[in-house]
Amino acid sequence: MTPASERRWLRPPSDDRPASFAYGADYNPEQWPREVWKEDVRLMREAGVTVVSVAIFSWARLQPAEDRWDFAWLDEVLDLLHDSGIAVDLATATASPPPWLTTLHPEILPVTRTGETLSQGARQHWRPTSPVFRAYALRLVEAMATRYADHPALVAWHISNELGCHNIYDYSDDAAQAFRDWLRTRYGTLDELNRAWATSFWSQYYGQWEQIQPPRLAASHANPTQQLDFKRFSSDALKDYLRAERDVLRRITPDVPVTTNFMVMGETKGMNYPDWADEIDFVSNDHYAHPGPQRLDELSFSAALTHSIAHGRPWFLMEHSTSAVNWQTVNVAKTEGELARDSLVHVAHGADAVCFFQWRQSAAGAEKYHSAMVPHAGPDSEVFRAVTALGRTLRELTPVTGSVREPARAALVYDWDSWWAVERDSQPTSLLRYRQEALDWYSAFLALGVRVDVVTTAADLTGYDFVAAPVLHVVPKDLADRLDAYVRGGGHLATTYYSGVVDENDHVHLGGYPGALRDLLGIRIEEFGPLLEDADVRLDNGLTGTLWTDRIEVTDPEVTVLARYETGDQAGRPALTRRVPADGGSASYLSTRLGSQGLTGVLETLLSGAGVASELPAGARGRVEATVRTDGTHAYWFLVNRTDEPVEFDAVDGEALTGPAPAGGGLVLPPREVAVLRVEAGATPFLPGV
Ligand code: GAL
Repeated sequence: MTPASERRWLRPPSDDRPASFAYGADYNPEQWPREVWKEDVRLMREAGVTVVSVAIFSWARLQPAEDRWDFAWLDEVLDLLHDSGIAVDLATATASPPPWLTTLHPEILPVTRTGETLSQGARQHWRPTSPVFRAYALRLVEAMATRYADHPALVAWHISNELGCHNIYDYSDDAAQAFRDWLRTRYGTLDELNRAWATSFWSQYYGQWEQIQPPRLAASHANPTQQLDFKRFSSDALKDYLRAERDVLRRITPDVPVTTNFMVMGETKGMNYPDWADEIDFVSNDHYAHPGPQRLDELSFSAALTHSIAHGRPWFLMEHSTSAVNWQTVNVAKTEGELARDSLVHVAHGADAVCFFQWRQSAAGAEKYHSAMVPHAGPDSEVFRAVTALGRTLRELTPVTGSVREPARAALVYDWDSWWAVERDSQPTSLLRYRQEALDWYSAFLALGVRVDVVTTAADLTGYDFVAAPVLHVVPKDLADRLDAYVRGGGHLATTYYSGVVDENDHVHLGGYPGALRDLLGIRIEEFGPLLEDADVRLDNGLTGTLWTDRIEVTDPEVTVLARYETGDQAGRPALTRRVPADGGSASYLSTRLGSQGLTGVLETLLSGAGVASELPAGARGRVEATVRTDGTHAYWFLVNRTDEPVEFDAVDGEALTGPAPAGGGLVLPPREVAVLRVEAGATPFLPGV
């Protein structure tokens, strides 16, 4: 169990109810007349709401001019919420600077790679490195913290909002200056920088720090290490800003936990969240599902990754949607059951809070067609009924709060440096999508019904029986050594094409690919064989590869070829290899892209070599996702029906906390529903012999 102090948001301090799931939303009362506020809190109570995030975009209302402040309306909102037993996760309100500030100081506006200055009029139009913006923002943070330090509704601070959502890459002069400072700290001397950036290429030698620029629009491909460092720097610059706000809050309210909402999902690769997580008191995440065949897989993948970013401690789902969003190409409404199922998948992966964007659907503004807990139709609606039902479900799940997700036996490695490096320009192919490859592996685990942790390269891998590290492209020496030790210690590693190729400075490990992993895998590749967009190759195991092939030479007698190419330029050559050292586990290499379906069969073979099997009965594999949380005394099995059909279990035991209960020895899980079964810690609800 995690200490309650870290989870103050589970229970408003003035409330003597036992800790329960935090449930709520972003609440934007400034968009509504006062009369609506009263109805809001009444409906919040009806829905079981316990916490709301307030003042996220309120800067212009709180400080309507440089020397004018207006807190009266927010005082009233906080009092009203508190009187109704609803806690407040209070934003520092710095996410969207008001027009008076950008008019007074246009130099806070971000500049794009092509030199255009972004305008006010939307949100998050500020430079992460602007000293002027920071001074104004911290003044506001100080004012908020001072005013509300002792407000009884306050349970957490919410720094800014989705840092980096729109302003992660800024190429302004402020950014250039801060980039140089960051490089000085990283490299110490210009000689070191010139070496790391390989500036003897294309006459790029730097004789003075002032000559260095961010990778602005250039005549051709910008220096790759400069680009990689600019990504690292941009993530660090926002982290530094996060720290600055946090330090003000900690000084004034040392007992109030601080968070900021991450966006662990597909489109937001700029922020290296694993590296930010230690800066805050608890991790929160925003997640929006993408319609399509991997919708639920991606949701689960993001939740699993958030769990490991949170170091396995309970985390806060700060935003997701009750139904449609407003910013996808087509904004699809959720079908019956999805609102609850999506929420409970996050809970299964360790969330102890379920919140939405937003409480009441806006009547105007850019997000008026984004769903909310109270839709345009009002409380007499399917959405509000589903919201209220979820409030009840979360109360039923109260015993689960504070428990942690039980580690899996398999891990999937996710690496920000590799993500950044392989999707840059000047690669063997521009078609490679790092996250999609990782997601396909995750889908294959789900299809086999095998639980898997999603971890970063910093994780201790030694406890895992099987580790998949697809497209692990950036492999510094120490990581190569750790992977080597992992396999020597009996671990089973699987990696893929374009892995092991470069070091942390994006310099190729010479002598043949896969570079740093060549000896471990017992193979050598002289040349990559990327495939054209519509090309594919057949393997002798019946599978089809796309995107990539390699010209593999087996260099170690301990290597077995598990599959060969049948067609294409590599016909007859190995496609999938496995080295099984005399003492140790195994190291496998897959040299093409198989997609989630093709990977499923391959993964099954590799997992069985590692002795890892599904814990689910055969009939439920792929149709049900099983996740386990434990508090040391009990295990809580979350069984999520991923399909639109009922799933039947023949022999199940356990106490149902929510969802269908075992009856007559079996359990029927209706379409899209979730059952949570409590059993003894270490036990499974599935009876032997099935
Ligand atoms: C998030 C943001 C919210 C809202 C939401 C809509 O990115 O934090 O303020 O815009 O998306 O999906």
